[in-house]
Amino acid sequence: MWKSEGSVAVITGGGGLLGRGMALTFADAGMDVVVADLRLEAAQKVAAEVEAKGRRSLAVETDVSDPAAVTALADAAYGAFGQVNLICNNAGGALLKPVWDFSLDDWNRMMGSNLMGVIHGVHEFLPRMMKHGGPRHIVNTASMSGVGLGSLRELNAIYVTCKFAVVGLTETLRPAIAPHGIGASVLCPGMTVAEPEKPMEFRMPSAKWYEDNLLDNFDVGREVLASVMENRLHIFPHREGLGEVEARHKLLLESFSQAAATSPPLHAHPRA
Ligand SMILES: NC(=O)c1ccc[n+]([C@@H]2O[C@H](COP(=O)([O-])OP(=O)(O)OC[C@H]3O[C@@H](n4cnc5c(N)ncnc54)[C@H](O)[C@@H]3O)[C@@H](O)[C@H]2O)c1
Repeated sequence: MWKSEGSVAVITGGGGLLGRGMALTFADAGMDVVVADLRLEAAQKVAAEVEAKGRRSLAVETDVSDPAAVTALADAAYGAFGQVNLICNNAGGALLKPVWDFSLDDWNRMMGSNLMGVIHGVHEFLPRMMKHGGPRHIVNTASMSGVGLGSLRELNAIYVTCKFAVVGLTETLRPAIAPHGIGASVLCPGMTVAEPEKPMEFRMPSAKWYEDNLLDNFDVGREVLASVMENRLHIFPHREGLGEVEARHKLLLESFSQAAATSPPLHAHPRA
């Protein structure tokens, strides 16, 4: 049973748009928040906003692609608060290029933040969380790009690769840790804007629904908290993204139909 009041959250990428939305939503719900970010100043700003709401906070400069830095983050969080009830592995970002233009350095760097950063967070925090009681939950940030056939896909190979992996990780993690009383969710937002900027002039010709359905960072923060409280697996703040998910599943079903139409059923071969 989730209880926000008095719980402690750690948010990586906490100095950014969605991290801030989550941090301030969690603070409003009575949680203390550790704000971790590559950019210490941004983390400190959000931590100060959490404290202004009467909750305790700690800003930690963390590069999630570095396992030692994530160990140091966990040490700092447990040192300051004694427990972590919610870890949000959220740091990340996109790099848009045609796939042939990505260097191996691009792949390693982006996968370091978007995928290994999530893995480091799970690897470091989960064993510690298993050792204490109270409400405990892991939220990994993926994207609609991790479940559907979204726009800009052809320029987004690294990001999509990472986000699909984050979905896969969370879907396997969840049943494994459920018997330990720990929940897991994967956050799959669509395009989100900072709350003070809304409404903004935003044009993405290939994705009309984004224009009509932009959510802000606090919408997403509230959706995350509600989903944690209800222990939902997938967190879909942007309901309009359903079309992207349907498009992907249609593709999968078409591939199965093609296979069924052209290949003999493999299980029909007698075994030697
Ligand atoms: N905003 C959107 O529209 C949107 C949509 C789908 C998914 N997402 C995902 O949400 C997460 C947060 O994105 P955002 O919109 O808040 O972006 P943002 O750029 O505002 O925030 C990301 C934060 O992560 C930090 N960061 C980047 N690499 C890091 C690293 N290696 N270690 C620690 N911190 C690091 C950045 O300094 C930044 O503060 C990302 O994983 C992103 O892929 C965002």
